Formats: sequence, C-alpha cells, structure tokens
Amino acid sequence: MCGIVGYIGHREAYPVIIKGLKRLEYRGYDSAGVVLYDGTDLKLSKTKGKVSDLEARAEKEISLNGSIGIGHTRWATHGVPNDVNSHPHVSNSGNLVIVHNGIIENYEPLKKELIKRGYVFHSDTDTEVLVNLIEEVKKQDNLKLGKAVQVALNQVVGAYAIAVFDKERPNEIVAARLGSPLAIGVGKDEFFVASDASPFIEYTSNAIYLEDEEMAIIRLHKPLKIRKIKDDTLVDPYIQELQMNLEQIEKGGYDHFMLKEIYEQPSVIKDTYRGRLHANEGLIKMAGIEDNLQKFLNADRILIIACGTSWHAGLVAEYIFEEFARIPVEVEYASEFRYRNPIVRPTDVVIAISQSGETADTLAAIKLAKEQGAFVFGVCNVVGSSISRETHAGAYTHAGPEIGVASTKAFTTQITVLTLIALRLAQAKGTMNNSDFHRYLQELELIPEKVAEALETNLVAQTIAAVYKDAPNALYLGRGYNFPVALEGALKLKEISYIHAEGYPAAEMKHGPIALIDESMPVFIIAPQQEHYDKIVSNIQEIKSRSGKIIAVVTKGDTQVKALADHVIEIPATSDALSPLLTTIPLQLLSYHIAVMRECNVDQPRNLAKSVTVE
Ligand code: AGP
Ligand code: GLU
Repeated sequence: MCGIVGYIGHREAYPVIIKGLKRLEYRGYDSAGVVLYDGTDLKLSKTKGKVSDLEARAEKEISLNGSIGIGHTRWATHGVPNDVNSHPHVSNSGNLVIVHNGIIENYEPLKKELIKRGYVFHSDTDTEVLVNLIEEVKKQDNLKLGKAVQVALNQVVGAYAIAVFDKERPNEIVAARLGSPLAIGVGKDEFFVASDASPFIEYTSNAIYLEDEEMAIIRLHKPLKIRKIKDDTLVDPYIQELQMNLEQIEKGGYDHFMLKEIYEQPSVIKDTYRGRLHANEGLIKMAGIEDNLQKFLNADRILIIACGTSWHAGLVAEYIFEEFARIPVEVEYASEFRYRNPIVRPTDVVIAISQSGETADTLAAIKLAKEQGAFVFGVCNVVGSSISRETHAGAYTHAGPEIGVASTKAFTTQITVLTLIALRLAQAKGTMNNSDFHRYLQELELIPEKVAEALETNLVAQTIAAVYKDAPNALYLGRGYNFPVALEGALKLKEISYIHAEGYPAAEMKHGPIALIDESMPVFIIAPQQEHYDKIVSNIQEIKSRSGKIIAVVTKGDTQVKALADHVIEIPATSDALSPLLTTIPLQLLSYHIAVMRECNVDQPRNLAKSVTVE
C-alpha cells in the first residue's frame, strides 16, 4: 500500500503532486518523495517521514518548476524507512525514474544479475532493481520506455503499480499494474496517474482504472495507449465519469475503512504468502525462519506474547504449532507477562505478534524476554516499527496499512504467517508427513478465494445484525482452532458496537455461562464441519433447550446445525487448522453491521486507539 501521484500537462506539476500525496495520506505511509522535470533537469527530493517533511525539504533542495512529475508515499516492504530507500528511485544512467507500490518477489536474482552487469545499488529496495532492469532491457534491445517496461515486467514476479519517466523521452509517463491499484485521470491537455482518484478528482472526473497486467503509455497531446503487459496487445481505454466524492474514494467506495479492510483480506492474504508459499514445489521460504531454524527446532517451548486481536492470533497459533510441529506453546498477554516475573529460559523461542509494531506492553515483554536470554521473533505489519527493530528476526504480514481501529486483516494475515511458520517447522522436524504437508500448502493457496466466498455472506450477516443489534449481551462459542475465533468475534462486537460480549470454549458452557442463557441472549457459535462437530451440536442443543438464540457459522451444505439454529451463515469447507481464516469473516461482518446500525463510530470507536503505545 502506498501512494502514487503522477502529472503531465499544462500546469505546474509540483502543487498537483504534493496536494495529491496529501489526499493519499489516509493510506498510511512512512516516507515520501517527488521528482520533477523542467525540460532540462530531473529534480528529485525524498525523505523518511510525512508529506509535510517532503514539502519542507523539497522547497529547500530543488527548484519546483516543471510540468511533469511523479510523487510517492512509501509503505516499506523491502528496506527500512529511510531517505535512501524512499521513492522515486533513479536508474544508474540517471535517465529513468520510478515509483512503485507492491512487492517484487524475485528482486534478489534480478539484482544479482544486474550487479554482474555492472549496476550499482544505493538502496535496499526491490524497486531500485526494477528501474535498473528496465534500463538494462532498454539498453540491450534499444527500446523506447514503453516497450522496455513491458519486456522488463514480463521478467518480474510479484505485485506492482508503477509510474516510470525517461528524461530522454520527456513527454511521456509509463504506468503499469499487477495486484496494486492504479487510476489515470484524463483531463484537457493533461493526464494524472494515481493510486486512486482522490488526487485528481478536483481536476477531472474522467478516470481510467487500469486492470491487472495492463500498462499505459501516457503521452501529452497523443491519445492514451493501454496495452496488455503479457503480449503488448492494445486495449480500448474505458473512461468512467466518476460520481464518487473524495471521502468515498479514500474508502475505495466502502462506507468505512473497516469494511474496506475486511474486503481486502483475499488480496492481502495473498500478499502475505507471496514469495513465501510455493505449493507446487512443496516449499515454504521465509528468510527469518531459515536463518534461525535451529533455534526453533531446539526450542523447549515457544512463548507467544501479544495483546488484543494479536493475542487471539497467537492462540490460534498455539493450536497449530502444537498440532503440526509438536512444540509446546504458551500464549501470554504481554501486559501480564511483563509484570509477573515470568520464567524465561535461553531455550525458549518467543514470538511477538503486533500489527502496529508499537504496542507498549508487547515491546516491554520483548525486552524482558531478551534480558532473560530468549530468541525473539516478531510478526509485525509495519516495516521498521519499534517491535520489528527490537526483535532478533521476524516476518512481516504485508497486509498494508490497517486504518480501522478494529483489527480485521491484521488477524487473518497474522494467522497466515504463523501457519506458514508452523508448517515449515513441521516439515523440518518431520512431525507432518509429506502428503499432509503438500495438502496444507495447496489448501493455503486456496484460502484467498475461499475468503472471497465467505465475504459473499455479507447480506446474510447484515440481515442477522438487524435482529440482534439491540441485544444487551452476546456469547461467542467455539471449539478447538475456533475457540480463539470466538474470543476474537466477541472482541470485535465489544469494541465497535459497545455491546458486552464474551467468548468461551463451547464445552465450558456447562461450567457456568449456561446460566446466562435465555431468550434474550444471542449465542454466536462457530460450528464448521470439523473434529468434535457432534459435540458442538450437543452444545447447540443445550442452548436451544434453554431458549437461547443461536446464530451459527457452518460449513456450506450443513443440515444438522441448520435444523437447530435460528440463523446460519454458510462458509466454504477447509481443513480444521485453516478454518479460523474463514470462520472469522462472518463475525467481522456481523459486528460491523451491528455497529453501523447502532450508529457507532466504526473506524474510531470511543475510548480506543489504533496503537496502544502507552501502558
Ligand atoms: C483489536 O481490534 C484492537 N485494535 C486491539 O485489541 C489490538 O489488537 C491490540 O491493541 C494490539 O495491537 P497490535 O497488534 O498493534 O500490537
Ligand atoms: N516494495 C517497495 C519498497 O519497499 C514499495 C513499497 C510500497 O508499496 O510503498 O520500497
């Protein structure tokens, strides 16, 4: 996730770009940069920090004239946030400039080859490799920019939205996309290219949204050319007359960031395992794990520390690690762990999970574990965050910025990373046979499309939400891998609709909570077809016999629970261990709709902060 704004036309480019980058600030970022061309020189300024920092720096560093330019706000994936790693990146010749959103998975082999051919690199980014690959292709085959970009992108594996400029072909910007959004604003004698329409909606409402594997050759006073990257065939540009206002554009047309992020889960789960999951080869490749494999294999136990939703992801991981890799796991609230004088041994491996990478309790717990000699591995979403720098090694979730205070895509991408780690350890320890290992890799690769299918229950969830939006309390029940999902579902409801909700292991009902059951108590029960299904059916019968209202998340085609429950939400089948990635989706949608119907502030619930950087 990041922001791209390009301009070519009759205006001064700088004001358009800076204002456009500010429009894209909602997308989250850690650095910003701009390049301008005034007909003679390329003028570039970039910095870690905010767009306002870029403004201050650019106004000192470069002359701001020029009617062509490209700007960028970075959400780092390769190379920590700093000035050098910020975009734009310039090719070795100094002629080509690029900004990029996404991940080039095969940048390392490409970089090695380019170094062999004499290229030098100044940054740690994958993006700098791409601009030099385009340069090398251009030089080798004596190609114009557009063709060079097309040929180079056919050597690239990964996700990208890019804008590229060639000083030697100054009236042109080349844009391309695969997996990351890119829109072109078509004005009168001017073009805009941006991550969404918010930077150009005030200048033109005529927009072309590039499709995946399409590229655009944007030349002033020439008709826009759109081509297929694969085979260079021309595509008829489809210009839309945008009706959305600025706020709607920022939320991608969704009413709230939280809903947008719920719907991003199919694509961000793919980004999470991109370059890591190689199902066909039966491989999992995670540098942070490979470099520290022995520490994990020799560990007497794995200690997971986290807070809130990240703690729930850790609880899912406990079930998965113990089932797959047979390593004892304990999951601790960081806020408790840090104060209770815990016993931590050098033979412990600690996994710290944090979306923001800034949670004070988790950070303190990490320091405590390190002082006692443990190896600490981080699972974070923000590159260069405090936790990612404090841990010995780690793996990023690559979920893109999560703006909604209530974590949704953070949860599913954390589970995805943790599942990959557990599978890799199981393979290394031989605690999982080869066929199961391959089966899980294949199934994990199908999860994004199954999450997309689970999202189709949105209207059913909305209908059910209308029935229970005024309930004073709610119970969430689950077994096994879905017990943590019950806790997470309850947290979602609590934090955005302010309804008191509790998550419980379904079998625990008889040890007290069943006293709460009556006709005013909605019970959300996670009952997919999996081990102990018959037991959860009995739990449902116990609730029904006490007039509890039952809303069950079931596997598509279920009949037994369907006959007992007041409402069912059907999701695709998957393996028990991967089911949390699907069962959580209807619960996210339910809490979202209930909160909206209660007119709560969904994206910024009362009393809550997105990152709890205080104790
Ligand atoms: C979950 O929806 C909340 N936003 C909160 O519980 C959050 O998960 C917790 O504060 C931990 O945050 P972190 O993942 O950024 O460390
Ligand atoms: N992978 C690139 C980098 O880390 C682009 C990140 C982004 O999308 O902003 O610089």
